[in-house]
Amino acid sequence: MKDFKDKVMFITGAAHGFGEVLAKEGAQRGMKIAMADIDEPALTKVYHDIQKVTADVLMVVTDVTKEAEVDAAIAQTMTKFGRIDLLINDAGVAVPGMVWDLPSRDWEWIIHTNLMSQVYTMQKVIPIMRQQQTHGAIINVSSYAGLVSTPLMPAYYATKFASVGMTEGIAYDLQQHQIDIEMHVFCPAFVQTDLYHCEQHRPAQYTDTTDPYYQSQAYLDGQKFAKHDITTGMPIDNIANIVFTALEKNQFYILSHPSLNPMITKRTERLVEGKGPDINFVGQFMQSLSQANQTD
Ligand SMILES: NC(=O)c1ccc[n+]([C@@H]2O[C@H](COP(=O)([O-])OP(=O)(O)OC[C@H]3O[C@@H](n4cnc5c(N)ncnc54)[C@H](O)[C@@H]3O)[C@@H](O)[C@H]2O)c1
Repeated sequence: MKDFKDKVMFITGAAHGFGEVLAKEGAQRGMKIAMADIDEPALTKVYHDIQKVTADVLMVVTDVTKEAEVDAAIAQTMTKFGRIDLLINDAGVAVPGMVWDLPSRDWEWIIHTNLMSQVYTMQKVIPIMRQQQTHGAIINVSSYAGLVSTPLMPAYYATKFASVGMTEGIAYDLQQHQIDIEMHVFCPAFVQTDLYHCEQHRPAQYTDTTDPYYQSQAYLDGQKFAKHDITTGMPIDNIANIVFTALEKNQFYILSHPSLNPMITKRTERLVEGKGPDINFVGQFMQSLSQANQTD
């Protein structure tokens, strides 16, 4: 996608972090912006910020884990703007925890937020884009954690690897059916956002304060780990530029930390050699990561 003026962006997770900067960058480039997020006060603030740039902005308070709410947000976007040209599936949560500690409820929460929400939007938006008979684009926000894994967050890896695989599969299907939609998957490493606050965005249906897990040391350790990794990540300043430049160049994989790319190659080399997860390989990775946050 090269021209953004008057195109319509539908974006989830726009109240904070990547979603916020991408929605604002779209508005700066002349796009009409429709935003869906669960956090009403924060979304309202972003909405008012964007109103200073354009009157063509819509906010719909949406829990993306609920298909009916996603459908309603897309329907409201169609009523207001009549089309969708760019879909950005950004809403996400990071839920740390060992598989033997983490309650199934948390697995369901992260799978529905990070993966199923992307399915719900694409099921509705791809037919809309197809019917428009003009060029469309979709960005699924995955993660570097969809390409390379480390300890402590198996549920997060499950959703992010799934998002990469799903996006690749859909790209083939669109090509095979000659549907004019370009697919992208955004795979950033750690960036300073509000991601470690995601407990605040836990919907009621995934909340059970009576479960002893949420008072356990394992839970507290997980929260501490997530906070450390996100707060020591790369500043967010250049993220919108990285994503929009990749859109202009029609780059499928959008990466944010060039100095971490050799770890992707290393993983693939180990994979074809039949070598599995190795804690020494992770040591190397963590070293590269702390360097990357300073140099990229
Ligand atoms: N920050 C990083 O280091 C990093 C790295 C790789 C990938 N990511 C991914 O980027 C995406 C955005 O995360 P971020 O870092 O900007 O975090 P963030 O917490 O700043 O933003 C996430 C947004 O998603 C929204 N959200 C969460 N649950 C929701 C729900 N049920 N319904 C609707 N909206 C919901 C939140 O309200 C928030 O506005 C996520 O998919 C995350 O996994 C982040």
